[in-house]
Amino acid sequence: MLQVTDLHVAYGQSEALHGITLHGHANETVAIMGRNGMGKTTLFKALMGILPVRSGRIEVAGQDVSHDESFRRVAKGIAYVPQGRMVFPTLTVEENIQTGLENAREKVVPDEIYALFPVLWDMRGRRGGNLSGGQQQQLAIARALVTDPKVLLLDEPTEGIQPSIIKDIARALNEIRKLRGITIVVSEQVLSFAMDVADRLLVIEGGRLVHETRRSETNEQLIKSYLSV
Ligand SMILES: Nc1ncnc2c1ncn2[C@@H]1O[C@H](COP(=O)(O)OP(=O)(O)OP(=O)(O)O)[C@@H](O)[C@H]1O
Ligand SMILES: [Mg+2]
Repeated sequence: MLQVTDLHVAYGQSEALHGITLHGHANETVAIMGRNGMGKTTLFKALMGILPVRSGRIEVAGQDVSHDESFRRVAKGIAYVPQGRMVFPTLTVEENIQTGLENAREKVVPDEIYALFPVLWDMRGRRGGNLSGGQQQQLAIARALVTDPKVLLLDEPTEGIQPSIIKDIARALNEIRKLRGITIVVSEQVLSFAMDVADRLLVIEGGRLVHETRRSETNEQLIKSYLSV
């Protein structure tokens, strides 16, 4: 569903990703683990077309999107929940979700979305800026999901979120994968969360993937050693 081949990305003269190759199957969740500054956000921005690729290739469901503008990539089936969530603070919860429906004929939020995130139904008339961090994260996932993606990217969804809500988010991601059979790629520093959602775990360090393991074979101590400074 997602195929990334030898991706190089630079900020000006300074290369930040040095040849990333990864794939995600349908009905698979992949976690990309890495400390601060290792290249997780750079990777996701390049996948979404927010940063240009220097070389390499990005395919979504067999279509090359490497040089498409972001909105075309969304139309081809890739959606993104950015780090820090970026909900529109003055729009209501419902209006925030509707921004994901921009190109849809029906602007009605599907019931399935509120079934996944009951708290969003309760708060649908409230302004996004007045939600807790965890509620905003759920809102950002809902907004990405209504574009009906084949590949859903989430950049550090647990950052700054309390443990009980982290569990809710893990449950929702597992439910989404089961219902839709899509590819989910999530960047993380919280290993317990990754172990709750991911079929495979990759480690990024200094803009390179340096380790890969299936969940069932994960050496948690080894991954922790990559995550600690
Ligand atoms: N706008 C930018 N201009 C120049 N360098 C940048 C820019 N943004 C990020 N970098 C550099 O690229 C590298 C990767 O940063 P990136 O934000 O992708 O890391 P990250 O893994 O997402 O970290 P975090 O966990 O803190 O979000 C870092 O060395 C960072 O300093
Ligand atoms: Mg980041």
